[in-house]
Amino acid sequence: MKNTRAKKTLTITLLLIISFFAWRFLRPINIFVVDEKFERPIHVEIPQGLRSISAKECGRCHVEIYKEWSGSMHAMAWEDPYFQIDFVYDDSKQICLNCHTPLENQQKELVLGFKDRGKFDPILGPNPNSDADLRDEGVTCAVCHVKEGRIVGPYETTDAPHPVTVDPGMTSGMKPCQRCHVVSGNRWDTFYSIPPCGTVAEIKEGAQEPNCVGCHMPEIRRPVATGTKERKGRQHLFRGGHHSEMVRSALQVKYRKEIEKDENRTKFIFTLTNTGAAHYLPTGTPDRYLTLELRLLDRESRVIKEKTYKMKRYILWRPFIIDLKDTRLPYGLPREYIFEFKHDNNPPKELDVTIRYHLLDEKRKKAIGYENREPIAYPIYSIEIPL
Ligand code: HEC
Ligand code: HEC
Ligand code: HEC
Ligand code: HEC
Ligand code: HEC
Repeated sequence: MKNTRAKKTLTITLLLIISFFAWRFLRPINIFVVDEKFERPIHVEIPQGLRSISAKECGRCHVEIYKEWSGSMHAMAWEDPYFQIDFVYDDSKQICLNCHTPLENQQKELVLGFKDRGKFDPILGPNPNSDADLRDEGVTCAVCHVKEGRIVGPYETTDAPHPVTVDPGMTSGMKPCQRCHVVSGNRWDTFYSIPPCGTVAEIKEGAQEPNCVGCHMPEIRRPVATGTKERKGRQHLFRGGHHSEMVRSALQVKYRKEIEKDENRTKFIFTLTNTGAAHYLPTGTPDRYLTLELRLLDRESRVIKEKTYKMKRYILWRPFIIDLKDTRLPYGLPREYIFEFKHDNNPPKELDVTIRYHLLDEKRKKAIGYENREPIAYPIYSIEIPL
């Protein structure tokens, strides 16, 4: 009697555990927490003296800034073909838009409230002021510069044809980027608080603030608008993983050779240091990674030995989100990578070394059906060391 009851309890417990894990494997996962900062789109009014809040309107006078911004991924945040594919693959969730097309009138529908506590399921209504041209501008000027019908800027000025409010936060280095790039959130079932798209996840809210603006918007002296006098300003380049020179500028490579005569062995020690990015190298979405590829060739250019190191964030997604391992390069900390070989009757001619930056890997590219027009990986360092 007692025995059968115990068996029953055990079976039920086991069934519960099994269904819990089955649910963890099958349910849709929301890999981030919807923070107040980006739960709704931004409502803005057209400032006096301007015809619209479109970047093209600003570009009539801020010609240089408009050009720089146009070449940045901010201007591509909606049209970026990789985003487009991924957005549809992820069921075209409204929440994605709050960072990629964050202005209310960039979106087809208004967010009127939420059906769920997690705020992943908004109550939507038609938006009569929706503007598809504005949507195509992605993270447009007004996202950072318009508040309460006024232009928000870093300095006092009386020369502008539009009202200006000075916001000291604009020059603070991290504040203007925080809404979309520096967010976190804790939930019971994640052992890793990833911001949406995993962007600069290593920079925690409240920690010492790196000067994002300082590195991503280089200082320059020039007229801020057509016909105004020269003054200090900033180039709106926002360069990152899509610009090889930017990525290259963050990496320092050194190597040394050690020969152990009695053991008949040669050893190369490569030291890679992230000297140029005040976050990890690479940073950004978990898609990004670096490889250090080493190939030892003989006189006929045949490969004798090869080895590849990966600098990457490894994440377990199911049944729980766990940050397994992170081999990326932290700011200022040298990392050593070793390549060793024995001398035998096939003498090596050279060692070929390539360091490559990957925007995403082949597997993910295939999984979502992304047909890239620009390469998804490119070399940032290469050398042939004769032996
Ligand atoms: C008709 C020309 C014109 C248009 C259109 C225009 N601006 Fe300006 N803007 C100016 C001038 C002129 C200044 C003053 C420059 C100076 O002080 O040297 C200025 C100043 C600024 C400043 C700096 C304020 C500060 O803190 O010094 C910002 C930011 C700015 N504009 C943003 C915008 C944005 C965003 C748009 C589009 C929504 C826009 N402007 C449209 C002419 C224009
Ligand atoms: C309204 C949200 C938002 C704000 C605010 C914002 N960004 Fe971004 N940023 C994005 C999005 C979205 C992307 C990705 C666009 C894409 O690749 O589809 C991005 C991409 C980038 C990139 C990557 C470029 C590349 O080559 O991949 C850099 C660098 C960047 N932002 C820097 C900044 C800095 C610095 C600030 C603050 C001055 C800032 N961003 C503020 C949304 C934002
Ligand atoms: C992701 C946020 C962001 C976007 C998008 C953005 N700006 Fe800025 N902008 C800034 C920040 C931050 C500063 C102040 C930097 C500082 O001086 O420390 C600034 C400064 C300015 C200034 C003051 C002068 C100068 O050169 O610093 C003007 C004018 C300006 N922006 C116009 C524009 C225009 C026009 C666009 C669109 C074509 C635009 N901005 C897009 C963040 C942004
Ligand atoms: C000391 C200079 C420096 C500072 C400070 C800095 N960055 Fe970067 N950032 C870089 C360099 C260099 C790269 C290119 C290498 C890489 O991806 O790590 C980069 C890359 C990026 C990228 C591109 C990631 C991708 O996937 O393409 C983003 C986004 C970014 N930074 C955002 C930020 C934000 C937000 C801050 C502030 C919290 C910040 N950065 C502070 C230098 C800097
Ligand atoms: C809190 C703001 C935020 C939300 C919400 C958000 N993103 Fe992003 N997204 C970003 C930022 C910032 C970047 C740039 C990441 C980086 O490289 O550091 C980015 C980059 C991306 C990229 C990489 C583009 C490239 O250049 O390689 C894709 C794809 C993407 N997002 C898709 C989505 C999808 C799909 C959703 C909704 C499920 C979404 N994003 C929601 C902020 C956001």
